[in-house]
Amino acid sequence: TWTIGNIAEEQIERIREQVGPDGRAICGLSGGVDSAVAAAIVQKAIGDRLTCVYVDHGLMRKGETEQIERDFVASTGAKLVVVDAEKQFLDALAGVTDPETKRKIIGREFIRTFEAAEIDVIKDAPEGTKVGFLVQGTLYPDVVESGGGAGTSNIKSHHNVGGLPEDLEFELVEPLRTLFKDEVRLVGEQLGLPPEIVWRHPFPGPGLGIRIIGEVTRERLDLLREADAIAREELTAAGLDRDIWQFPVVLLADVRSVGVQGDGRTYGHPVVLRPVTSEDAMTADWARLPYDVLERISTRITNEVAEVNRVTVDITSKPPGTIEWE
Ligand code: XMP
Repeated sequence: TWTIGNIAEEQIERIREQVGPDGRAICGLSGGVDSAVAAAIVQKAIGDRLTCVYVDHGLMRKGETEQIERDFVASTGAKLVVVDAEKQFLDALAGVTDPETKRKIIGREFIRTFEAAEIDVIKDAPEGTKVGFLVQGTLYPDVVESGGGAGTSNIKSHHNVGGLPEDLEFELVEPLRTLFKDEVRLVGEQLGLPPEIVWRHPFPGPGLGIRIIGEVTRERLDLLREADAIAREELTAAGLDRDIWQFPVVLLADVRSVGVQGDGRTYGHPVVLRPVTSEDAMTADWARLPYDVLERISTRITNEVAEVNRVTVDITSKPPGTIEWE
């Protein structure tokens, strides 16, 4: 019979066969559920021959890097390399305000950093290793969409960093190829991953970099992280996490508005709350959060986050608005 338990067992067996007794695998962790569950399955199959790589680009939300460094490792026993690349990313983003340019820069820096980490993994491998395995959290709907049948694809690493053998190939390992998202979550729970990872809302690869309207700086990221953490805390406290698809909080860093706080006038930044409901992110509706929840979020953000003196709610559906502001 079909159970979540034997789905995981079957994949573990299959991966052991695919990677063989000497193969080495690398898995990039994003903080999301797919890569975490994929890594946890491969870890069970090949143990320390899997290296997980987490590129900390400094654009994550409050507590997320610690969730990976501490809770993911504690619950899976996986070997993890954390690359602290915050300065590199922020330097590359300095002065940039255009959304697509931000995305390009973040994508480019990410590939550079990840490839540099690949070198170390391969160095560690036995002499003459020609094939590395790259773990990806591809889900069944992605497989169907791309028309992919069974079989494995090989990809050449574009190593523009040097140091890797010229003819090194990476073969894909895709433990989630037969699963839908809700099944991935069940497997994740079964493997004992932390609920914050298993139930995390979708979060864009460029992170908070595309939720700061204007230039991305360390100070602005810190402000947004505080405001975002408050919104998430209150949503969770109200028991609404699973009713909402995503809840971006956006900092309008290039806008100021006048306010009055304590004894005087302020001239601070607005934040936008963007809670949405959706089935697949292609279309979305603005979420009708209860007024008392919105009220608590607004009061806490304006009290606790210096420089933010106004909280607004985005009531645009998609289309015409997108979920993210950039
Ligand atoms: P939009 O804003 O287009 O977003 O309605 C649809 C979904 O995609 C996510 N998103 C991204 N994810 N890289 C990603 O990995 C990106 O550049 C990116 N932009 C948007 C967004 O969070 C939503 O879930």
